[in-house]
Amino acid sequence: MELPFAESFKIKMVEPIYSSTPEERTQWIREARYNIFNLKSRQVYIDMLTDSGTSAMSQQQWAEMMLGDESYAGASSFYKLKESIQEVFGFEHFLPVHQGRAAENVLFSVLIKKGDIVPGNAHFDTTKGHIEYRQATALDCTIQEANNTNLIHPFKGNVDTNILKNVLEKYADHIPLIILTLTCNSTGGQPVSMQNIKKVRALADEYSIPLVYDAARFAENAYFIKVREDGYQEKTIPEIVAEMFSYADAMTMSAKKDGIVNMGGFIGFRDREMYEKATTYNIMFEGYITYGGMAGRDMNALACGLREATVFDYLETRIRQTEYLAGKLLDQGIPVQQPTGGHAVYVDASLFLTKVPREEFIAQTLAVELYLEGGIRAAEIGTLMADRDPQTRENRYPEKEYLRLAIPRRVYTNNHMDVIAVALGNIYNRRDKITSGYKILKEAPIMRHFTVELTPA
Ligand code: F0G
Repeated sequence: MELPFAESFKIKMVEPIYSSTPEERTQWIREARYNIFNLKSRQVYIDMLTDSGTSAMSQQQWAEMMLGDESYAGASSFYKLKESIQEVFGFEHFLPVHQGRAAENVLFSVLIKKGDIVPGNAHFDTTKGHIEYRQATALDCTIQEANNTNLIHPFKGNVDTNILKNVLEKYADHIPLIILTLTCNSTGGQPVSMQNIKKVRALADEYSIPLVYDAARFAENAYFIKVREDGYQEKTIPEIVAEMFSYADAMTMSAKKDGIVNMGGFIGFRDREMYEKATTYNIMFEGYITYGGMAGRDMNALACGLREATVFDYLETRIRQTEYLAGKLLDQGIPVQQPTGGHAVYVDASLFLTKVPREEFIAQTLAVELYLEGGIRAAEIGTLMADRDPQTRENRYPEKEYLRLAIPRRVYTNNHMDVIAVALGNIYNRRDKITSGYKILKEAPIMRHFTVELTPA
């Protein structure tokens, strides 16, 4: 008999977690105004809110923490990180920042001005926020297949290059950059193929526009290229990553994902001039150029984490866990984005809860149900997150209402995935009885999902 697959690590340090009673959860979620961000982590049993900054570091990363150099300027930790970034991505210049959105803030301060248009594949919400804050427009050019969760397409993060070409043709003078998000979070942690990257690069060259990667989950993207794209099976992950980034002019990185650290980020640049312009903003917003929002020990752990993220066995363990959870849901008929992406399983909430009107926040309703059922916290990627149109102030109804079950790296076992699958299965079995959702009591003018207060409709 063939031996079964198992994790490529063993556990040395553990953190207890606590389950709760349905009565406790009913009270806690009411006190949280039905916003899962307001729950205390102690009130959550299995936390699938995000894979960002929630991962477990390795023994090597913890060892590196002890070697951090906390000098204000010129710390050895900065040079350690510089060497790792050069080795993994091939970028000569970089600036450390405190997290991904800070990288966006600094880089966009250099590149984007009022009235600009920034095309890309389903920009992440902070990316879009930083574009719209500058009174520019984020234009989504993702392939249409991405919105059909039942359709099997290996690269649902791809850009529709015909749409992109038309956009470039029409607005080239107002386009300061093209952004590729690898993997594409908003469509389900879906990868972009090397072929698509190359086509986007060719268009960027044709119109002389810089190509920037939002590289938060670059290693997961490389894994999918290796296992799904013709011609890459024999290549190593570091070779694929090197090729991916050879087509980019710059990158923003939230190191809280594929950097496998709890906090941190950076901007990578090929062009010295762009880097030099950005240093001023980095010093203003983040910190001096050799630490910019990161402690020396954190830069050390990141230098190590970037390399660990490109180890095939690590990636295989990770992606197979996502597939495992998705498989358990599909076995019960629960609709999820297929094929499964990298960091999360995306439940298609509008196909799950068909009786809740979209004005009552379908995916949020499912998030609350899942918490009540099993103390499991997952994120709404739907109408609450899509927010209001900045001009009309009307709700923007996105193409999809997703409940995202994001999986922290190296944190939970497949037994936890089994609990989640049963909890969602129980809700699926009584889905016809769930006919109403929530209405808003209070919301912020931008990024409302973090602080919104709700009440049952
Ligand atoms: N880009 C992508 C693709 C992201 O997923 C995120 C964060 C960011 C940029 C911003 O990075 O949080 O370090 O400032 N995503 C988290 C998530 C919050 O839960 O998906 P950050």
